[in-house]
Amino acid sequence: MGLGRIIARFQPFARRTEKGNKMKIGVLCSGGDAPGMNPCIRAIVRAGAQSVGVDYRDEIVGIYHGYRGLLNEEFLPLGAREVSGLTSRGGSILYSSRCKEFEAPEGRAKAAEILKRNKFDALITIGGNGTLSGARDLGEVWDGKIIGVPGTIDNDLLGTDMTIGFQTAVQTGVEAVDKLRDTAGSHDMMFIVEVMGRLCGDLAAYIALAAGCELAEIREIPTNIDAIVEKLKTFKEKGKRSIIMTVAEGDDYGGAYEILNGLKAAGSPYEMRAVVLGHVQRGGVPCPGDRILATKLGISAVDAVHLGETGKMVGEVNGKLVLTPFKDVVVGRREGPMDVMTLIDRVSV
Ligand code: F6P
Repeated sequence: MGLGRIIARFQPFARRTEKGNKMKIGVLCSGGDAPGMNPCIRAIVRAGAQSVGVDYRDEIVGIYHGYRGLLNEEFLPLGAREVSGLTSRGGSILYSSRCKEFEAPEGRAKAAEILKRNKFDALITIGGNGTLSGARDLGEVWDGKIIGVPGTIDNDLLGTDMTIGFQTAVQTGVEAVDKLRDTAGSHDMMFIVEVMGRLCGDLAAYIALAAGCELAEIREIPTNIDAIVEKLKTFKEKGKRSIIMTVAEGDDYGGAYEILNGLKAAGSPYEMRAVVLGHVQRGGVPCPGDRILATKLGISAVDAVHLGETGKMVGEVNGKLVLTPFKDVVVGRREGPMDVMTLIDRVSV
């Protein structure tokens, strides 16, 4: 199914001025943290407060620790001043978690009861696939408005061209590879750099393209050790002294260490080292691209609940803000970054 068909055009930045439109809106972050979650929280609080051109006067309540905090009623009212300075802060001031209890129907029924008893009108959830599936399932037992915002470094969601956090994680990966290149160049060697992205090769591919890596291995394309060794031999013959390969953590062959062992056994002509970047990629100051995306999507999420929308994720596709039903977001993952892989090949000669 093409993305174009599953998205509904969404009119963002609603200009609603009528009185009596005030809502009580909960906001939470769930799953892996991503740089840009904080600017998104700031945008939600400020857009709900009383932005220029609208008069929502909402009561925004931060919910600590994601769905787990919802079940424990960890609430924190947030005013415009409380979110000052958040544009440049990584992580999430609301903290995050992965909650087993919420995955069970009993957990969600409890969450619905809590939202009802505390008179919430709407809930905005920031996170990845698990967060959005949770939001979809909650919508079956709670009649408030629920809008999701895509926040994950993995960039693996349908319904948006980019997720909040991806661009910063690419920058972090590129900075790490640039440093490794100095050492690889000084010692005539090869680094195999494992990056995050359990179900999606976007981080590995984009980092490789931006950092000038010769090779990238992603889960969407089966890893062929013999073919890689052939390429390495050609690189050696052509006089390439250093090589850097990124590997997505979800690669079919395994991570950086498995690939290193495989290449060694198959006769790699380079001395090799493996590096796993891991959680380094999840933190850090959000880059301008993530701050801007987070702000746009946060404001749009507030507008969406005021427009009566529910059960949808706000995203940006081809420069347009769109809403996509949760069921169409969680149904699958975006296609692999084949175009980027082709570009890497074309410049790795
Ligand atoms: O979902 C984002 C992500 O960074 C994945 O790429 C990675 O596999 C996972 O989180 C790691 O999660 P945890 O922090 O629970 O180990």
